Amino acid sequence: MDQNAKSLLYRHPHLYEALYPTPDQKTYASPAICNKICHAFLKTGPQSILDIGCGTGRYLNFLSEGCKNCIGVDFLPAMVDFAVSQYDHIDFFQGDMREFRLNRTFDLLICMGSTFLHALTNSDIERTLETFAAHSHRGSLLILDIKNFMGFVDNSVEEKVEKEINTDEFKGKSVTSRTFNRAKQLWIWKRTWYIQDHDPVEDYLEFRMLFPLEIEHYLSQSGFSVIGMFDNLDLEESDFKGERLYIAATYTGKNQSQVLADVQP
Ligand SMILES: C[S@@+](CC[C@H](N)C(=O)[O-])C[C@H]1O[C@@H](n2cnc3c(N)ncnc32)[C@H](O)[C@@H]1O
Repeated sequence: MDQNAKSLLYRHPHLYEALYPTPDQKTYASPAICNKICHAFLKTGPQSILDIGCGTGRYLNFLSEGCKNCIGVDFLPAMVDFAVSQYDHIDFFQGDMREFRLNRTFDLLICMGSTFLHALTNSDIERTLETFAAHSHRGSLLILDIKNFMGFVDNSVEEKVEKEINTDEFKGKSVTSRTFNRAKQLWIWKRTWYIQDHDPVEDYLEFRMLFPLEIEHYLSQSGFSVIGMFDNLDLEESDFKGERLYIAATYTGKNQSQVLADVQP
């Protein structure tokens, strides 16, 4: 995330949780997907988990029921402070996914809720994947959960989205205009919050638009081999029209050119 990104919800984690209540099985980015992917691709449950861009820490809390060695990292101190205040059995640190180093590896790395799309440039993506690789050992499993931009193909994309908000914490509405910078593969959100008894609050967010084969290529360059990509919570093969893209990759420690060199006579 760059310094020019602004989000009311990121600055006020309790509002983030109020608007996106803790997910259950049916919610698009449910943490249950992590358990399903682990079950499908790991022989035994992970003994250690790193959540990159952990936000309020709730996914990690869910996963910590089966794994005591969990660490969450987020760019924003407000998110980290909130997570620390909620879950004292988990360690949380402030860090930028493009550069933090904890000097250890994990069995499972997760990066959920489109956090990975905050890596906006090719260089940001490469640096972020270097961070993932630096915290992986051979056989570590990486799970990414991102917006599925292939779902835009054949569908008209709403440019303006209005949402009424009526929670205990927060009453009002949000109006989001969503445009593209096609040359830079960016989806740009300008969102205004109209909250009772407050002046309007403006958000500005950019998301990198990444596509399946592009992600597979970046991952392979960083030593990760994709073992599954799904647009649904049932991990079924599909036409990739779903809202989300769940990617499972395993760390081999070799980039694609090394793999090819190994099979040359
Ligand atoms: C949409 S929230 C998702 C939070 C959480 N993973 C979830 O799914 O509920 C995106 C999170 O990514 C974090 N983030 C953005 N850029 C980051 C970076 N460069 N390094 C680490 N975290 C980052 C934000 O602070 C925010 O908490």
